[in-house]
Amino acid sequence: MRLAVIPGDGIGPEVIAEALKVLGEVVPAAEITRYDLGAARWHATGELLPESVLGELRQHDAILLGAVGDPSVPSGILERGLLLRLRFELDHHVNLRPARLYPGVRSPLADPPEIDMVVVREGTEGPYAGNGGLLRKDTPHEIATEVSINTSFGVERVVRDAFARAANRPRRHLTLVHKTNVLTHAGSLWSRVVEEVSLQHPDVTVAYQHVDAATIHLVTDPGRYDVIVTDNLFGDILTDLAAAVTGGIGLAASGNMDVTRRNPSMFEPVHGSAPDIAGQGIADPTAAVLSVALLLDHLGEHESARRIEASVAFDLATRDHQSPGATYAIGDRLAALVSSNVRTG
Ligand code: NAD
Ligand code: IPM
Ligand code: MN
Repeated sequence: MRLAVIPGDGIGPEVIAEALKVLGEVVPAAEITRYDLGAARWHATGELLPESVLGELRQHDAILLGAVGDPSVPSGILERGLLLRLRFELDHHVNLRPARLYPGVRSPLADPPEIDMVVVREGTEGPYAGNGGLLRKDTPHEIATEVSINTSFGVERVVRDAFARAANRPRRHLTLVHKTNVLTHAGSLWSRVVEEVSLQHPDVTVAYQHVDAATIHLVTDPGRYDVIVTDNLFGDILTDLAAAVTGGIGLAASGNMDVTRRNPSMFEPVHGSAPDIAGQGIADPTAAVLSVALLLDHLGEHESARRIEASVAFDLATRDHQSPGATYAIGDRLAALVSSNVRTG
Protein backbone atom coordinates (compact mmCIF):
# COMPACT_ATOMS: atom_id res chain seq x y z
CA MET A 1 0.00 0.00 0.00
CA ARG A 2 1.62 3.24 -1.14
CA LEU A 3 0.22 6.25 0.66
CA ALA A 4 1.01 9.92 0.19
CA VAL A 5 0.54 12.04 3.29
CA ILE A 6 0.07 15.81 3.22
CA PRO A 7 -0.03 16.99 6.85
CA GLY A 8 -0.63 20.61 5.81
CA ASP A 9 -1.20 23.54 8.12
CA GLY A 10 -2.33 24.34 11.66
CA ILE A 11 -3.72 21.28 13.41
CA GLY A 12 -3.26 19.25 10.19
CA PRO A 13 0.15 17.82 11.21
CA GLU A 14 -1.09 17.30 14.80
CA VAL A 15 -4.05 15.12 13.83
CA ILE A 16 -2.19 13.35 11.02
CA ALA A 17 0.52 12.19 13.45
CA GLU A 18 -2.19 10.38 15.44
CA ALA A 19 -3.89 9.01 12.34
CA LEU A 20 -0.57 7.50 11.24
CA LYS A 21 -0.09 5.99 14.70
CA VAL A 22 -3.39 4.16 14.26
CA LEU A 23 -2.69 3.23 10.65
CA GLY A 24 0.64 1.74 11.75
CA GLU A 25 -1.26 -0.70 13.97
CA VAL A 26 -3.46 -2.06 11.17
CA VAL A 27 -1.19 -1.81 8.12
CA PRO A 28 2.37 -1.75 9.47
CA ALA A 29 3.75 -2.41 6.00
CA ALA A 30 2.16 0.68 4.44
CA GLU A 31 4.73 2.66 2.49
CA ILE A 32 4.29 6.30 3.42
CA THR A 33 5.68 9.32 1.59
CA ARG A 34 5.25 12.68 3.24
CA TYR A 35 4.75 15.82 1.16
CA ASP A 36 5.31 19.18 2.77
CA LEU A 37 2.83 21.41 1.07
CA GLY A 38 0.98 24.34 2.58
CA ALA A 39 1.71 27.68 4.17
CA ALA A 40 5.36 27.08 5.11
CA ARG A 41 6.29 25.95 1.61
CA TRP A 42 4.42 28.81 0.01
CA HIS A 43 6.20 31.34 2.21
CA ALA A 44 9.59 29.73 1.55
CA THR A 45 9.35 29.09 -2.20
CA GLY A 46 6.08 30.49 -3.52
CA GLU A 47 5.07 26.96 -4.51
CA LEU A 48 1.60 25.57 -3.92
CA LEU A 49 1.49 22.28 -5.83
CA PRO A 50 4.43 21.82 -8.21
CA GLU A 51 3.74 19.68 -11.28
CA SER A 52 6.43 17.21 -10.24
CA VAL A 53 4.73 16.70 -6.86
CA LEU A 54 1.33 16.27 -8.50
CA GLY A 55 2.89 13.64 -10.76
CA GLU A 56 4.32 11.80 -7.75
CA LEU A 57 1.02 11.96 -5.89
CA ARG A 58 -0.63 10.25 -8.85
CA GLN A 59 1.64 7.24 -8.30
CA HIS A 60 0.11 6.48 -4.90
CA ASP A 61 -2.84 4.27 -3.96
CA ALA A 62 -4.40 7.03 -1.88
CA ILE A 63 -3.64 10.36 -0.23
CA LEU A 64 -4.19 11.34 3.39
CA LEU A 65 -4.44 15.07 4.05
CA GLY A 66 -4.62 16.99 7.33
CA ALA A 67 -5.85 20.49 6.51
CA VAL A 68 -4.68 23.55 4.67
CA GLY A 69 -5.14 27.26 5.32
CA ASP A 70 -3.25 29.72 7.46
CA PRO A 71 -3.96 33.26 8.66
CA SER A 72 -0.57 34.38 7.32
CA VAL A 73 -1.61 33.53 3.75
CA PRO A 74 -4.28 35.51 1.92
CA SER A 75 -7.59 33.65 1.96
CA GLY A 76 -8.04 31.31 -0.96
CA ILE A 77 -4.41 30.96 -2.04
CA LEU A 78 -3.85 27.62 -0.31
CA GLU A 79 -7.48 26.54 -0.46
CA ARG A 80 -7.72 27.02 -4.22
CA GLY A 81 -4.11 26.54 -5.22
CA LEU A 82 -3.56 23.36 -3.24
CA LEU A 83 -6.69 21.68 -1.87
CA LEU A 84 -9.17 22.43 -4.66
CA ARG A 85 -6.47 21.95 -7.28
CA LEU A 86 -5.87 18.44 -5.93
CA ARG A 87 -9.60 17.68 -5.92
CA PHE A 88 -9.98 18.96 -9.49
CA GLU A 89 -6.78 17.50 -10.99
CA LEU A 90 -7.49 14.11 -9.45
CA ASP A 91 -11.16 14.27 -10.47
CA HIS A 92 -12.53 13.81 -6.96
CA HIS A 93 -16.13 14.05 -8.07
CA VAL A 94 -17.67 12.21 -5.11
CA ASN A 95 -17.03 13.94 -1.81
CA LEU A 96 -18.25 11.42 0.73
CA ARG A 97 -19.10 12.75 4.16
CA PRO A 98 -20.73 10.38 6.63
CA ALA A 99 -22.33 11.83 9.77
CA ARG A 100 -23.25 9.41 12.50
CA LEU A 101 -24.09 10.01 16.15
CA TYR A 102 -21.98 7.42 17.97
CA PRO A 103 -23.25 5.96 21.25
CA GLY A 104 -21.92 7.99 24.17
CA VAL A 105 -21.36 11.14 22.14
CA ARG A 106 -23.27 14.19 23.30
CA SER A 107 -25.13 15.99 20.54
CA PRO A 108 -26.02 19.66 21.10
CA LEU A 109 -29.60 18.57 20.38
CA ALA A 110 -31.62 18.07 23.55
CA ASP A 111 -33.12 14.73 22.60
CA PRO A 112 -31.30 13.44 19.53
CA PRO A 113 -32.70 10.54 17.55
CA GLU A 114 -30.52 7.92 15.94
CA ILE A 115 -28.49 9.80 13.31
CA ASP A 116 -26.72 7.91 10.55
CA MET A 117 -26.48 9.71 7.26
CA VAL A 118 -24.02 10.14 4.47
CA VAL A 119 -23.76 13.29 2.43
CA VAL A 120 -22.65 12.71 -1.14
CA ARG A 121 -21.35 16.11 -2.09
CA GLU A 122 -20.41 16.85 -5.68
CA GLY A 123 -16.69 17.68 -5.64
CA THR A 124 -15.55 19.20 -8.91
CA GLU A 125 -18.21 21.65 -10.07
CA GLY A 126 -20.78 24.12 -8.77
CA PRO A 127 -19.70 27.54 -7.55
CA TYR A 128 -16.28 26.04 -6.76
CA ALA A 129 -15.42 25.68 -10.45
CA GLY A 130 -13.57 29.00 -10.49
CA ASN A 131 -15.67 30.43 -13.26
CA GLY A 132 -15.83 34.06 -12.30
CA GLY A 133 -13.96 37.27 -12.04
CA LEU A 134 -13.80 40.86 -11.02
CA LEU A 135 -14.67 43.51 -13.57
CA ARG A 136 -13.97 47.21 -13.15
CA LYS A 137 -11.99 46.42 -10.03
CA ASP A 138 -11.54 49.30 -7.56
CA THR A 139 -14.19 51.39 -9.22
CA PRO A 140 -17.62 52.17 -7.77
CA HIS A 141 -19.04 49.86 -10.44
CA GLU A 142 -17.01 46.79 -9.60
CA ILE A 143 -18.67 43.49 -10.54
CA ALA A 144 -17.83 40.15 -8.97
CA THR A 145 -19.11 36.92 -10.52
CA GLU A 146 -18.81 33.33 -9.33
CA VAL A 147 -20.75 31.29 -11.83
CA SER A 148 -21.91 27.85 -10.73
CA ILE A 149 -21.06 25.16 -13.27
CA ASN A 150 -23.31 22.11 -13.41
CA THR A 151 -22.74 19.66 -16.24
CA SER A 152 -25.07 16.78 -16.96
CA PHE A 153 -21.99 14.52 -16.90
CA GLY A 154 -20.91 15.81 -13.50
CA VAL A 155 -24.36 15.76 -11.96
CA GLU A 156 -25.22 12.35 -13.32
CA ARG A 157 -22.09 10.62 -12.04
CA VAL A 158 -22.51 11.90 -8.50
CA VAL A 159 -26.25 11.17 -8.47
CA ARG A 160 -25.59 7.62 -9.72
CA ASP A 161 -23.05 7.13 -6.97
CA ALA A 162 -25.49 8.42 -4.33
CA PHE A 163 -28.26 6.10 -5.52
CA ALA A 164 -25.88 3.12 -5.50
CA ARG A 165 -24.90 3.95 -1.91
CA ALA A 166 -28.54 4.40 -0.88
CA ALA A 167 -29.47 1.05 -2.46
CA ASN A 168 -26.85 -0.62 -0.24
CA ARG A 169 -28.03 0.91 3.01
CA PRO A 170 -30.83 -0.49 5.17
CA ARG A 171 -33.20 2.47 4.79
CA ARG A 172 -32.65 2.98 1.05
CA HIS A 173 -33.65 6.61 1.15
CA LEU A 174 -32.16 9.46 -0.85
CA THR A 175 -32.74 13.19 -0.41
CA LEU A 176 -31.78 15.67 -3.09
CA VAL A 177 -30.94 19.00 -1.48
CA HIS A 178 -30.85 22.04 -3.74
CA LYS A 179 -32.52 25.40 -4.21
CA THR A 180 -34.71 24.70 -7.22
CA ASN A 181 -37.07 27.55 -6.38
CA VAL A 182 -34.38 30.14 -7.09
CA LEU A 183 -31.51 28.39 -8.91
CA THR A 184 -33.95 27.23 -11.55
CA HIS A 185 -31.41 26.28 -14.23
CA ALA A 186 -29.10 24.15 -12.12
CA GLY A 187 -32.07 23.00 -10.06
CA SER A 188 -33.87 21.75 -13.15
CA LEU A 189 -30.81 19.75 -14.24
CA TRP A 190 -30.31 18.19 -10.80
CA SER A 191 -34.01 17.34 -10.45
CA ARG A 192 -34.25 15.74 -13.89
CA VAL A 193 -31.12 13.68 -13.35
CA VAL A 194 -32.39 12.44 -9.98
CA GLU A 195 -35.72 11.53 -11.55
CA GLU A 196 -34.08 9.66 -14.42
CA VAL A 197 -31.62 7.73 -12.25
CA SER A 198 -34.39 6.89 -9.77
CA LEU A 199 -36.10 4.83 -12.49
CA GLN A 200 -33.20 2.39 -12.23
CA HIS A 201 -33.56 2.24 -8.43
CA PRO A 202 -37.25 1.58 -7.73
CA ASP A 203 -36.22 0.26 -4.29
CA VAL A 204 -34.81 3.65 -3.22
CA THR A 205 -37.32 6.21 -1.95
CA VAL A 206 -36.58 9.77 -3.01
CA ALA A 207 -37.25 13.09 -1.31
CA TYR A 208 -36.42 16.66 -2.22
CA GLN A 209 -35.70 19.59 0.09
CA HIS A 210 -34.63 23.14 -0.45
CA VAL A 211 -31.28 23.73 1.24
CA ASP A 212 -32.67 26.32 3.66
CA ALA A 213 -35.31 23.88 4.87
CA ALA A 214 -32.68 21.14 5.08
CA THR A 215 -30.77 23.23 7.66
CA ILE A 216 -33.94 23.31 9.76
CA HIS A 217 -34.49 19.57 9.55
CA LEU A 218 -30.84 18.74 10.17
CA VAL A 219 -31.38 20.33 13.57
CA THR A 220 -35.02 19.45 14.34
CA ASP A 221 -35.28 16.02 12.71
CA PRO A 222 -31.86 14.73 11.58
CA GLY A 223 -33.01 11.13 11.88
CA ARG A 224 -34.94 11.51 8.65
CA TYR A 225 -31.79 11.55 6.50
CA ASP A 226 -30.12 8.52 5.04
CA VAL A 227 -28.23 9.59 1.88
CA ILE A 228 -28.18 13.25 0.90
CA VAL A 229 -26.97 14.18 -2.57
CA THR A 230 -26.19 17.82 -3.22
CA ASP A 231 -23.94 20.27 -4.99
CA ASN A 232 -20.47 21.34 -3.94
CA LEU A 233 -21.31 24.45 -1.92
CA PHE A 234 -24.50 23.21 -0.28
CA GLY A 235 -22.62 20.03 0.63
CA ASP A 236 -19.82 22.02 2.24
CA ILE A 237 -22.22 23.92 4.46
CA LEU A 238 -24.50 21.00 5.29
CA THR A 239 -21.62 18.78 6.36
CA ASP A 240 -20.29 21.23 8.95
CA LEU A 241 -23.84 21.37 10.32
CA ALA A 242 -24.23 17.58 10.19
CA ALA A 243 -20.90 17.28 12.02
CA ALA A 244 -22.02 19.72 14.68
CA VAL A 245 -25.24 17.82 15.45
CA THR A 246 -23.38 14.50 15.61
CA GLY A 247 -20.90 15.60 18.27
CA GLY A 248 -18.61 18.06 16.60
CA ILE A 249 -16.29 18.77 13.74
CA GLY A 250 -13.49 16.86 15.50
CA LEU A 251 -15.25 13.60 14.62
CA ALA A 252 -16.19 14.22 10.97
CA ALA A 253 -14.29 12.28 8.29
CA SER A 254 -14.42 12.58 4.53
CA GLY A 255 -13.24 11.06 1.29
CA ASN A 256 -12.64 12.92 -1.95
CA MET A 257 -13.06 10.13 -4.39
CA ASP A 258 -12.53 9.42 -8.03
CA VAL A 259 -14.88 6.44 -8.02
CA THR A 260 -13.58 5.36 -11.46
CA ARG A 261 -10.21 4.75 -9.70
CA ARG A 262 -8.27 6.41 -12.49
CA ASN A 263 -6.73 8.72 -9.88
CA PRO A 264 -5.88 8.24 -6.23
CA SER A 265 -8.63 9.33 -3.88
CA MET A 266 -7.85 11.67 -1.00
CA PHE A 267 -9.08 11.33 2.56
CA GLU A 268 -9.20 14.15 5.09
CA PRO A 269 -11.09 15.40 8.11
CA VAL A 270 -13.99 17.72 7.24
CA HIS A 271 -12.48 20.36 9.51
CA GLY A 272 -9.83 22.90 8.59
CA SER A 273 -6.52 23.97 10.08
CA ALA A 274 -8.21 25.47 13.17
CA PRO A 275 -5.73 28.34 13.74
CA ASP A 276 -7.56 29.17 16.98
CA ILE A 277 -6.30 25.96 18.64
CA ALA A 278 -3.26 25.07 16.50
CA GLY A 279 -0.04 24.36 18.40
CA GLN A 280 -1.82 23.62 21.67
CA GLY A 281 -2.04 19.86 21.26
CA ILE A 282 -5.76 19.82 21.97
CA ALA A 283 -7.28 19.11 18.54
CA ASP A 284 -9.36 15.96 18.37
CA PRO A 285 -7.64 13.55 15.94
CA THR A 286 -10.69 11.29 15.68
CA ALA A 287 -11.85 12.77 12.36
CA ALA A 288 -8.42 12.09 10.87
CA VAL A 289 -8.45 8.55 12.26
CA LEU A 290 -11.92 7.90 10.82
CA SER A 291 -10.67 9.30 7.51
CA VAL A 292 -8.05 6.54 7.56
CA ALA A 293 -10.90 4.02 7.95
CA LEU A 294 -12.61 5.50 4.87
CA LEU A 295 -9.29 5.27 3.01
CA LEU A 296 -8.86 1.62 3.94
CA ASP A 297 -12.42 0.83 2.88
CA HIS A 298 -11.72 2.46 -0.46
CA LEU A 299 -8.61 0.27 -0.90
CA GLY A 300 -10.60 -2.87 -0.06
CA GLU A 301 -9.05 -3.27 3.41
CA HIS A 302 -12.47 -3.62 5.02
CA GLU A 303 -11.37 -5.68 8.02
CA SER A 304 -8.80 -3.03 8.98
CA ALA A 305 -11.35 -0.28 8.48
CA ARG A 306 -13.82 -2.08 10.78
CA ARG A 307 -11.11 -2.46 13.44
CA ILE A 308 -10.49 1.29 13.42
CA GLU A 309 -14.19 2.12 13.51
CA ALA A 310 -14.79 -0.28 16.37
CA SER A 311 -11.93 1.29 18.32
CA VAL A 312 -13.28 4.79 17.73
CA ALA A 313 -16.78 3.63 18.74
CA PHE A 314 -15.40 2.07 21.93
CA ASP A 315 -13.38 5.16 22.78
CA LEU A 316 -16.33 7.48 22.15
CA ALA A 317 -18.61 5.29 24.27
CA THR A 318 -16.17 5.35 27.19
CA ARG A 319 -14.33 8.67 26.95
CA ASP A 320 -14.85 11.58 29.33
CA HIS A 321 -16.29 14.02 26.82
CA GLN A 322 -15.66 17.02 29.11
CA SER A 323 -11.92 16.35 28.98
CA PRO A 324 -11.23 13.87 26.18
CA GLY A 325 -7.47 14.27 26.58
CA ALA A 326 -4.69 15.77 24.50
CA THR A 327 -4.38 15.04 20.80
CA TYR A 328 -1.57 12.54 21.37
CA ALA A 329 -3.43 10.88 24.27
CA ILE A 330 -6.51 10.25 22.12
CA GLY A 331 -4.23 8.88 19.40
CA ASP A 332 -2.46 6.62 21.92
CA ARG A 333 -5.80 5.32 23.20
CA LEU A 334 -7.09 4.61 19.70
CA ALA A 335 -3.85 2.92 18.66
CA ALA A 336 -3.96 0.71 21.78
CA LEU A 337 -7.61 -0.20 21.14
CA VAL A 338 -6.86 -1.08 17.53
CA SER A 339 -3.88 -3.16 18.55
CA SER A 340 -5.97 -5.06 21.13
CA ASN A 341 -8.56 -5.61 18.38
CA VAL A 342 -11.46 -4.25 20.42
CA ARG A 343 -14.91 -5.17 19.16
CA THR A 344 -18.16 -3.37 19.72
CA GLY A 345 -21.75 -3.78 18.70
P1 NAD B 1 -12.00 24.99 11.01
O1 NAD B 1 -12.69 23.71 10.68
O2 NAD B 1 -10.53 24.99 10.89
O3 NAD B 1 -12.39 25.43 12.49
C1 NAD B 1 -13.73 25.69 12.89
C2 NAD B 1 -13.85 25.51 14.42
O4 NAD B 1 -13.77 24.11 14.71
C3 NAD B 1 -12.73 26.17 15.18
O5 NAD B 1 -13.25 26.70 16.39
C4 NAD B 1 -11.77 25.02 15.49
O6 NAD B 1 -11.00 25.20 16.67
C5 NAD B 1 -12.73 23.85 15.63
N1 NAD B 1 -12.08 22.58 15.22
C6 NAD B 1 -11.73 22.23 13.97
N2 NAD B 1 -11.15 21.02 13.98
C7 NAD B 1 -11.12 20.60 15.25
C8 NAD B 1 -10.63 19.41 15.90
N3 NAD B 1 -10.06 18.40 15.22
N4 NAD B 1 -10.76 19.31 17.24
C9 NAD B 1 -11.34 20.30 17.93
N5 NAD B 1 -11.83 21.45 17.38
C10 NAD B 1 -11.71 21.58 16.05
O7 NAD B 1 -12.65 26.10 10.08
P2 NAD B 1 -12.24 27.66 9.85
O8 NAD B 1 -11.83 28.24 11.13
O9 NAD B 1 -13.36 28.23 9.09
O10 NAD B 1 -11.01 27.59 8.86
C11 NAD B 1 -9.65 27.70 9.27
C12 NAD B 1 -8.77 27.52 8.06
O11 NAD B 1 -8.87 26.18 7.55
C13 NAD B 1 -9.12 28.42 6.88
O12 NAD B 1 -7.92 28.79 6.26
C14 NAD B 1 -9.94 27.53 5.96
O13 NAD B 1 -9.89 27.92 4.63
C15 NAD B 1 -9.25 26.21 6.17
N6 NAD B 1 -10.07 25.02 5.94
C16 NAD B 1 -9.44 23.96 5.35
C17 NAD B 1 -10.12 22.78 5.19
C18 NAD B 1 -9.39 21.62 4.59
O14 NAD B 1 -8.19 21.63 4.48
N7 NAD B 1 -10.07 20.58 4.20
C19 NAD B 1 -11.45 22.64 5.64
C20 NAD B 1 -12.05 23.76 6.24
C21 NAD B 1 -11.35 24.94 6.39
C1 IPM C 1 -13.91 21.59 3.22
C2 IPM C 1 -13.35 22.99 3.18
C3 IPM C 1 -12.98 23.34 1.75
C4 IPM C 1 -14.26 23.33 0.93
C5 IPM C 1 -12.25 24.69 1.56
C6 IPM C 1 -11.09 24.84 2.49
C7 IPM C 1 -11.79 24.84 0.14
O1 IPM C 1 -14.25 23.89 3.72
O2 IPM C 1 -13.18 20.64 2.85
O3 IPM C 1 -15.04 21.41 3.67
O4 IPM C 1 -14.98 24.33 0.90
O5 IPM C 1 -14.52 22.30 0.31
MN1 MN D 1 -15.96 22.97 4.67
